[in-house]
Amino acid sequence: MKALTRHDRSLGSGVTPVFPDQGRGWLIVILFTLLTSVVTPVIADEGKTISRLPDSLAQWYKPVNKRQVWLHTMFALRRERQAIEEYVELKNPELARKWSERFVKHLRQLPEMAPEWEDEVELKEALRLERAALSGDLEAVSKAIARISRNCRSCHREYRALAAMRFRSPDFSQIPVSDDQGGEIGYAQLMSDLSRAINRIKIASEDQRWKRANQASARLRVLLRRLGESCIACHKDPPPHERILGSASQGVLDGLDEALQKRQAELSGKKLGEAAVIICARCHGVHRTLNDVRSLLY
Ligand code: HEC
Ligand code: HEC
Ligand code: HEC
Repeated sequence: MKALTRHDRSLGSGVTPVFPDQGRGWLIVILFTLLTSVVTPVIADEGKTISRLPDSLAQWYKPVNKRQVWLHTMFALRRERQAIEEYVELKNPELARKWSERFVKHLRQLPEMAPEWEDEVELKEALRLERAALSGDLEAVSKAIARISRNCRSCHREYRALAAMRFRSPDFSQIPVSDDQGGEIGYAQLMSDLSRAINRIKIASEDQRWKRANQASARLRVLLRRLGESCIACHKDPPPHERILGSASQGVLDGLDEALQKRQAELSGKKLGEAAVIICARCHGVHRTLNDVRSLLY
């Protein structure tokens, strides 16, 4: 396994051991140094590591590929395995053989698609399955399928979530949003502007600086409208936008403005909190956390 040790916690570096027995002290210090330098990488390996995905996988996903080829090969494998299992149960060697051939063909494609994973795919089991299916030995077919399934699971344990996250989760790094000058900024910049607008409303209303609070609230609306224009880059249908930035959110923002106009600090604080939950936190639950984790993979 090629591992990226992101949280390489070195054991005891910078710690000077104190030994009452000065006579043996030097020996223990040397032993300690030797041991920790040997032990550290092992601990890091057992601990938090993120496996590295083979670079070759990218060519089997959008945008490099037109289709999500790797994923669809996986769906095919699952379907073919089910067919084999069903025909073994129905004691139909003919059809079990037909589906075994397809299954084995797809299995052999895996290391061809991702040569770095040559050792992760047990092709000798595929050969056994092929032979068993050819000879019509359904019991042997069944055993081979069980062993191959263990192989599926072990690769999945290590890589499945990572691949889904890296190649199929939404990527916000290239989504543009318009700025004040009619140019473009990225999501991260817009988010930090949004956060400042929200906090300015909070600070100014607490300090009874109502004009400033009103200006910040108007600013918040402008920023949210621009954010709303970006959803269509990925969502062709209205519901996701409606859920986060639709009439419920507009209602809360109207309530906020009303409270600010009436100079009601407590009520405006309450409305601001509601807006932060139904607009910011709700979208972050869907999009931000995943986006942040995804960015750790590069
Ligand atoms: C060498 C590694 C590897 C092996 C071996 C492997 N897979 Fe996968 N599989 C993956 C990866 C990586 C994904 C994640 C793909 C994605 O989400 O885009 C995946 C995803 C899947 C999925 C999609 C799950 C879902 O519902 O989203 C199915 C089904 C699947 N594999 C079936 C199988 C079967 C059946 C086998 C064994 C016959 C198998 N895989 C063997 C790497 C492997
Ligand atoms: C980079 C692509 C991308 C952008 C930009 C994007 N989303 Fe999404 N969003 C997705 C994907 C992919 C899903 C999961 C599948 C689906 O629902 O389409 C999702 C799911 C959601 C969901 C949960 C599922 C649902 O339909 O209710 C909400 C809510 C949502 N997005 C809101 C938004 C809002 C609001 C915006 C704009 C401010 C936005 N998204 C911008 C890609 C994106
Ligand atoms: C599309 C749904 C969506 C909505 C609505 C949303 N955010 Fe975000 N937010 C994101 C995404 C995606 C990121 C990660 C952006 C990145 O790092 O590129 C993010 C990141 C952030 C960050 C961290 C920025 C940084 O410097 O890394 C802050 C702060 C933030 N959002 C504040 C807010 C506030 C305040 C609101 C509500 C007024 C809000 N967001 C509404 C999706 C959303």
